[in-house]
Amino acid sequence: MRKKTLFFVATLLFSASVWAQQKEIAIKVYPEQGKQVISKHIYGHFAEHLGACIYGGIWVGEDSSIPNTKGYRNDVLEALKKLQIPNLRWPGGCFADEYHWMDGIGPRENRPKMVNNNWGGVVEDNSFGTHEFLNLCEILGCEPYISGNVGSGTVEELAKWVEYMTSDGDSPMANLRRKNGREKPWKVKYLGIGNESWGCGGDMHPEYYADLYRRYAVYCRNFDGNKLFKIACGSSDYNLAWTDVLMKKVGYKMNGLSLHYYTIKSWGDGKKGFATEFDNDEYYWTIGKCMEIEEVLLKHMEIMDKYDKGKKIGLMVDEWGTWFNVEPGTNPGFLHQQNTMRDAFVAALTLNIFNKYSDRIQMANIAQIVNVLQSVILTDGAKMTLTPTYHVFDMYRVHQDATYLPLDIETDTKEIREREVPFVTASASQKDGIIYLTLTNVDLISERNITVDFSDLKLSKVNGRILTSKDIKDHNTYDNPNLVAPRSFKDAKFKNGKLSVKLPAKSIVVLEMN
Ligand code: AHR
Repeated sequence: MRKKTLFFVATLLFSASVWAQQKEIAIKVYPEQGKQVISKHIYGHFAEHLGACIYGGIWVGEDSSIPNTKGYRNDVLEALKKLQIPNLRWPGGCFADEYHWMDGIGPRENRPKMVNNNWGGVVEDNSFGTHEFLNLCEILGCEPYISGNVGSGTVEELAKWVEYMTSDGDSPMANLRRKNGREKPWKVKYLGIGNESWGCGGDMHPEYYADLYRRYAVYCRNFDGNKLFKIACGSSDYNLAWTDVLMKKVGYKMNGLSLHYYTIKSWGDGKKGFATEFDNDEYYWTIGKCMEIEEVLLKHMEIMDKYDKGKKIGLMVDEWGTWFNVEPGTNPGFLHQQNTMRDAFVAALTLNIFNKYSDRIQMANIAQIVNVLQSVILTDGAKMTLTPTYHVFDMYRVHQDATYLPLDIETDTKEIREREVPFVTASASQKDGIIYLTLTNVDLISERNITVDFSDLKLSKVNGRILTSKDIKDHNTYDNPNLVAPRSFKDAKFKNGKLSVKLPAKSIVVLEMN
């Protein structure tokens, strides 16, 4: 009897595993239809004066015992340089609408202090200001994205900030900058006029904000060859009315319109769930919520298309990512959370979606770069670790400024939150004769056999990297920093001109082919 039961169980397991291995997915890539370029700025980042993002995470000051270059920690600089981050948004977020830039220039010992009302009520000493930020961008070789104060500032204040940063003339603000040690102006292209002006940035109605934006835009001028790309504060989630009013009333007076979307369970009640403690249902819930961004994007883009058929105005998703409860024992106002393989999926899935709509999406900024929300880097004193999300950005770097290649995918799906969520997603691009393909399999149990048809391209060589882990909750710690890290991937081969890939359960893969 016992033997029979065992046999039955074994047969069941065997057929389950055969069934698991037989899941066939077909992808067809259309290289001849590749037109739009995936702006590298879709791979952008965001650094706010929030918790240990700036202070401790990036900036430790010249006198710190943590190895640094002119006050910036060396380990973080090195990691960010490797990532080739294209842009960095600063100083907020909500912080931006209470920030007065003049408090952050001149000798550090003379800079006035302020209370960071949005984030933990801590005292901000303004030791990291305009020079520290713009010099950091120069070191990293990335474009600065300045987020201006509209909520509690004035038009004059923002206009003077632009003059201070970018004027090369004999002007009062340029001369003040020179007095503070910087002779030549910086190049500043991206200027955000307000942040979440419907909420923490001034609680405004869209009609009022639209008029205010127009006023600010007049006085934020282009100095000496510096050409501003002006970004109006956009909406979040399903607030479509905001987008409609802005498109109607501001139109081509803006170059970009922002949008925020967080993968979050509930706002303001401590029930967001924990970054490292979750069950399989919660995992799939997160995947479903993350994928919902596509629906949100489509709705906003439909409105944008109505007013701007030629897609001149960029959609700038300048805040996105996971938002969980803070790590136990940390300041609730510091938004400090760990980062697991689940976060890696949120990054990979979202970036695949952004690539798809890169004819409209010109920029995106994951929130936030170090120690806050879905960070790419975590630090604690002198210790530093790269998160699984970092590795996704590293693997997906290949898509930056590459030509997007449309594709069709036939994949099985899972019902999550009343929506059919694909188990497999993909994104393809082409640059300098090389084809890149990123693939995700969110299934916790089964691998997928994937066949990719590249039309008439004669490809024969393939190299790959994979990010996966035994447990979806796996994450990197200071003691075990390489638990989740990319490894070389060999399960992709060309057969009769078609690529076949064995994509393991819970894995993210990047392939380079020629
Ligand atoms: O990223 C954290 C906060 O989320 C930002 O300051 C704000 O813009 C958003 O609500």
